[in-house]
Amino acid sequence: MSRPTNRQWLLAKRPDGMVGRHNFDFHEAEAPEPGPGEVLVKTLYLAFEPAMRGWMEDRESYIPPVGVGEVMRGGIVGQVVESNASERPVGSFVQCMTGWQEYAVIPAAQATPVPEGTPLTWPLGVLGITGLTAYFGMLDIGKPTEGDTVVVSGAAGATGSVAAQIARIHGCRVIGIAGGPEKCGWLTGKARLDAAIDYKSEDVAARLAELCPKGLNVYFDNVGGEILEAALDHLAIGARVVLCGGISGYNEKEPQPGPRNLMNLVIQRSRMEGLIVLDYASRFGEGVSRLAKWVADGEIAHQEDIQEGFENAPETFQRLFTGKNLGKQLLHVADPE
Ligand SMILES: NC(=O)c1ccc[n+]([C@@H]2O[C@H](COP(=O)([O-])OP(=O)(O)OC[C@H]3O[C@@H](n4cnc5c(N)ncnc54)[C@H](OP(=O)(O)O)[C@@H]3O)[C@@H](O)[C@H]2O)c1
Repeated sequence: MSRPTNRQWLLAKRPDGMVGRHNFDFHEAEAPEPGPGEVLVKTLYLAFEPAMRGWMEDRESYIPPVGVGEVMRGGIVGQVVESNASERPVGSFVQCMTGWQEYAVIPAAQATPVPEGTPLTWPLGVLGITGLTAYFGMLDIGKPTEGDTVVVSGAAGATGSVAAQIARIHGCRVIGIAGGPEKCGWLTGKARLDAAIDYKSEDVAARLAELCPKGLNVYFDNVGGEILEAALDHLAIGARVVLCGGISGYNEKEPQPGPRNLMNLVIQRSRMEGLIVLDYASRFGEGVSRLAKWVADGEIAHQEDIQEGFENAPETFQRLFTGKNLGKQLLHVADPE
C-alpha cells in the first residue's frame, strides 16, 4: 500500500535579520511507518512562538538549536492515524513537538492526549505554552496583589493578554501596551483592562507617567528595547519586573544595548527576573486547570489567529514579528479524519 506524502519545511539557512521563507526549504518525503510502541501522527494545527527565531540560531540556549537540514521544530496538535500502541489508538487527538511537517512517527509516550472536550487549538495557546508562561510569570515572579498597578507589554498577544487578565483577576489595575487601535480596543473591551497604550501612535513614557502617577508595581515584559526602558523609569518602590521576552530585538543583526536606566532598580529597591516556562513543567497540571477554569468562567478572553495551508508556514511565522497576529498564531494544516 502506498504511503501518504509528507510535506516538510526544513531549516535551510540560519537567520540574519528578519526571518522569512528564504530561511526554509520545502521538501517532500514518504510518511514513515511506526515501529513497536510508536504512532504516526497527522498534523492538524501548527503553533508558532517568537522563541523559534532563537532556536534557528547556532548558539547555546535552554534547548539545542535546530540543525540546518532538519525539520523546523514546533508544537502541533494532531491525530493518530496509525498506531502500534494501545494507549494512543487511531483517531485519538494528541499534542506533540513534531515540527513543521504533515506526518511524524513518535513513541506513544511523546504524544500527550488532548483532554476530552477541550477545543483542539487550546492546548497550543491559552492552555498551552503561552498561557502557562503568563500564569507562572505573572503569579510566581510578578506576584500581583490587590490594588497593584500592573503594566504588560505585548499585551494583545497570546502570552501578554493572559498575563494581563490574570493580574486583573487578582484585583490589580492593569495597563496593556500594544500596537494599533484594534489591539488596544480589544484590551479595554473584551479583556477588560483599565487602559491601553498604543505604542505605535502614542508616547509610551508620557502615557505611563499619566496612567501610573504612583509608579508601577509589576511590569511584565514581552518586548524589551525602548518600551522596557520606559517602564523602568516608572517603577514604584519594591516593583517586580518579569522578563518574559524581548521580541523587539529578535530580528536585529546585533544584540541591542540594554536599558540605560537599570539604576532605577537600585533607587526603587526593585527586582527583575527572567523565566523559561519549561522550568515549571512539574506544575503544568496546576496551571492548565486554573487557566481552564478562568476561561470557562469568562474571566479570561483569548484570541486565536488561524491561518490556512501548510505551504504558508514561513509567512505565518513572520506574522509574529510584523504584529499581524491577533492572538495566538496558529496554522490550520488539515481536518481530522
Ligand atoms: N520565557 C518564556 O518561557 C516564554 C514563553 C513563551 C513566550 N515568551 C515570549 O513572550 C513574548 C510573546 O510571545 P507570544 O508567543 O505570546 O507572541 P504574541 O505576543 O502573540 O505575538 C508577538 C507580538 O509581539 C509584538 N511585536 C512584534 N514586534 C515587536 C516590536 N518590534 N516591538 C514591540 N512589539 C512587537 C506584536 O504585537 P504588537 O502588534 O502589539 O506590536 C506581535 O503580535 C515573546 O517575547 C516570546 O519570546 C517567552
